Amino acid sequence: MITLTEKEILSNWEKLRGIITDTFEGERLEKLNTMYDYFEERMVLAPASGKEHFHYAMVGGYVAHVLHVVGFAVQLKDLWEKNGGKIDFTDEELIFAAMHHDLGKVGDLHNDYYVPQESDWHRKNKGEIYTHNGDLNYMTVTDRAVFLLGHFNIPMSELEYLGLRLTDGLYEQGNESYLKSYFPQNNLKSNIAYILHQADMMATHIEFDEWMKGNEKDKVKVKKSVEKIKKATETTSKFLKSDNDNAKDLFDELFGKKQ
Ligand SMILES: [Fe+2]
Repeated sequence: MITLTEKEILSNWEKLRGIITDTFEGERLEKLNTMYDYFEERMVLAPASGKEHFHYAMVGGYVAHVLHVVGFAVQLKDLWEKNGGKIDFTDEELIFAAMHHDLGKVGDLHNDYYVPQESDWHRKNKGEIYTHNGDLNYMTVTDRAVFLLGHFNIPMSELEYLGLRLTDGLYEQGNESYLKSYFPQNNLKSNIAYILHQADMMATHIEFDEWMKGNEKDKVKVKKSVEKIKKATETTSKFLKSDNDNAKDLFDELFGKKQ
């Protein structure tokens, strides 16, 4: 299991707010700051998913995931451009869409989207660290993202909308009509959605790998501690079987005299 320290969580939050200040300007920046101030307490702590084997189901996971997607999207855009891919959008548009593709995971205006799973069985057997908050009206994460941005009067360009709407690619059934087109005129005219989907997928898989590595480390720790216990048990039993009075005296001194 991986976790973030308080220092890492706060530093990620500062990084995210810094990107907002550096990327946007004017009225849009003001409105974004109003929304981020409003959600600060919940957004800083929100996880990126509910199940530990998905990605970043931990305190601070949401912001860490968003930072990954923003960073990877910018790097992938350069790779596409270098290799002749058409880039018909600005960095601001790319970052805006990357930053808000999972905004719905923060919840509605008053309640968290994910709440801690209280059932021990579900935590142990299904790896559910968080569960969906049943008090919320059902909405897809993307629909809620668009609703929240609208609520705070944050405008977006058509390409920003398409980018954040399609970041989940074909993992979201509702995206099929955009991505499986039988008419050439309906093919996506911009690569922004493909780049964002790649960035999100890359982030998700790298976050999964991190979780696996954390599990391996935990396994090694458990193995070492089991070996230590086995060794201690063997040594103790040797002491007890021993005819050596010195050994017995030493055992009594360490563990108290047997009654
Ligand atoms: Fe995501």
